[in-house]
Amino acid sequence: MPNIYQRLLFPLAARLDAERVHDLTVAFLAQLSRSPAACALLARLLARPAPSLAVERLGLRFRSPLGLAAGFDKNAVAVPALGALGFGHLEVGTVTPRPQPGNPRPRVFRLPADEALVNAMGFPSRGAAAVAANLRRWQPRRTGSELVHVPLAANLGKNKDTPLARAWEDYASGLAALYPYADYFVVNISSPNTAGLRDLHAAALLEELGAALAERRAALAGPAGRVKPLLLKLSPDLTPQQRASTLAAAREGPWAGLVVGNTTVRRAGLHTSRPDLPGGVSGRPLFARTLTWIAELRRELPPGWMLIAVGGVFDADGVWQLLLAGADLVQAYTGFVYRGPLFAARVNADLAERVAALGAPSLDAALREARAVAGARALVAVS
Ligand SMILES: Cc1cc2nc3c(=O)[nH]c(=O)nc-3n(C[C@H](O)[C@H](O)[C@H](O)COP(=O)(O)O)c2cc1C
Repeated sequence: MPNIYQRLLFPLAARLDAERVHDLTVAFLAQLSRSPAACALLARLLARPAPSLAVERLGLRFRSPLGLAAGFDKNAVAVPALGALGFGHLEVGTVTPRPQPGNPRPRVFRLPADEALVNAMGFPSRGAAAVAANLRRWQPRRTGSELVHVPLAANLGKNKDTPLARAWEDYASGLAALYPYADYFVVNISSPNTAGLRDLHAAALLEELGAALAERRAALAGPAGRVKPLLLKLSPDLTPQQRASTLAAAREGPWAGLVVGNTTVRRAGLHTSRPDLPGGVSGRPLFARTLTWIAELRRELPPGWMLIAVGGVFDADGVWQLLLAGADLVQAYTGFVYRGPLFAARVNADLAERVAALGAPSLDAALREARAVAGARALVAVS
């Protein structure tokens, strides 16, 4: 059933430039974030996922498996308000070491018939020092009801004018600036909007990047410090050969897991024919591929590799399917844009209902049970 947001607000907002609406929304959430009382009230209404949804991943506690994907709050200005909306983790960024404006506007477009967005933002960022200052400001708020058990990830990128051969320096400097303030880091080599960035999937460059980050992280953690996890965000456009060589190189590196994946440059299968729009497609058209990738990667990768699924999640059923296929956590961006402010709270409520219907004490127990049933069904079908 479409809600008021879908019937009224989204169609109204769709008359305005998509990025302008985004900027206004983030400015409003940033304003809200300044008031601990307002965030606490909002959190009381929206951000109380059932305790059964809490999961332990990467040595951290997440109050829900659904997080907000990178790109929504690029500069970490609205962290408490986004927590108050019910997300179980927040990935801020992409952050570049030095401030940069990104590509010329307009650079974000809606494709409502596909429940998709196309963006060619090119990492507009206030830079790592400014984002670190914002995250530092939120540190005392992390124990508030809006952010408790909501791990923060920082998504790292490179500046447009940094040559590819020196990209590792940008990622290492972003890591250094943000190290004290994020719980884990996502290394973004997969945005289609920074020329050459996706070449970092190539084994030689990826190995160099992994080695540089491992060294910098060890220095940052110090002898007694906690080594914070590094994840790699992959492109959904890799060929099977590219994927195999990227995974082989990744397995030799310092990575705790993968974020799968970023936007796609493919346009096949879309209802909207806008070949003129530059950039990467997100939203509904990505879901089938995300699901296939997660299932395949879960089979291919050694146990213990963390998989965060992102691409085309619009409801609890999408989250459930991805978790069942082997994802450890799930993220959404475009689903949040199309479904509105109650998105995370709704998904959490529907997921909790599903866990309760299975009579399981927790989400993980429910997933184990559902996998066992699916496995038994498959056996019966074969025999
Ligand atoms: C407008 C927009 C900006 C984005 N910016 C970033 C970014 O800065 N860094 C990043 O890693 N991903 C970025 N993404 C990609 C999302 O994090 C996500 O991987 C992708 O949109 C697929 O998920 P979805 O279908 O739930 O939107 C962006 C996506 C959109 C729509």
